[in-house]
Amino acid sequence: MRFHVLTLFPGIFQGPLSESILSRAIGKGLIEVALHDIRDQADDRHRTVDDYPFGGGAGMLMKPEPLFKATESVFESASLPAETPVILMTPQGRKLDQRIVEDLATKKDLVIICGRYEGVDERIREHLATDEISIGDYVLSGGELAAMVLIDAVSRLVPGVVGSMESALDDSHTTGLLQHPQYTRPAEFRGWSVPDVLLSGNHAEIERWRRRESLRRTALRRPDMLKDVELTEEDRRFIQGLQEDGTATA
Ligand code: ADE
Repeated sequence: MRFHVLTLFPGIFQGPLSESILSRAIGKGLIEVALHDIRDQADDRHRTVDDYPFGGGAGMLMKPEPLFKATESVFESASLPAETPVILMTPQGRKLDQRIVEDLATKKDLVIICGRYEGVDERIREHLATDEISIGDYVLSGGELAAMVLIDAVSRLVPGVVGSMESALDDSHTTGLLQHPQYTRPAEFRGWSVPDVLLSGNHAEIERWRRRESLRRTALRRPDMLKDVELTEEDRRFIQGLQEDGTATA
């Protein structure tokens, strides 16, 4: 999987890409992150990449020419097929979730444009980007951290990146439910003990407990998610019980 990132600040990516899972994935050749400095495509003496908005107003906008040139140069040098997604990171985009991450993980290449300043010239949205993604309803200083979030989430789904695929498949959101509580040693810490069932060795009982705790946590914290998951009759009865005894709204 290759990520082609267009940014004015390639240095922002260095830390996250040189640690832990992503660094290992790059080392193993499972993912590749190519950073392209948009300023390299500015052709005036001052390497200008931004300008004032027509009609006035606060702040500067990213100019179209350097971004179009940078994107076209990436398509050409990496021989990208025309259908490769070109994603503009912007708070105006569709909100990123695990379904979108799963869809993007099926692509071979992603081109990611990091917006900066107060925004981008509208022609970039209309004629260059094929998708616009936001990582949440808040405004960052630029698209770089958002792009990094996207790269991290998508990379986890590339086979071999996460230690065991089961671990990625079991994540909160992948199952459509929040993850159940987890414990490690010691079995008792400051008087707080691990639920007996997890020490029982009874795998069927453990799975049943985990499913219920996932349902409980989701019903309590993110009831909106329940409408999109497939629930068994037993799940439904359990949730009904939570609602009746008030546990889900505590
Ligand atoms: N750029 C600035 N804020 C952003 C956000 N919330 N998501 C994606 N890109 C952004």
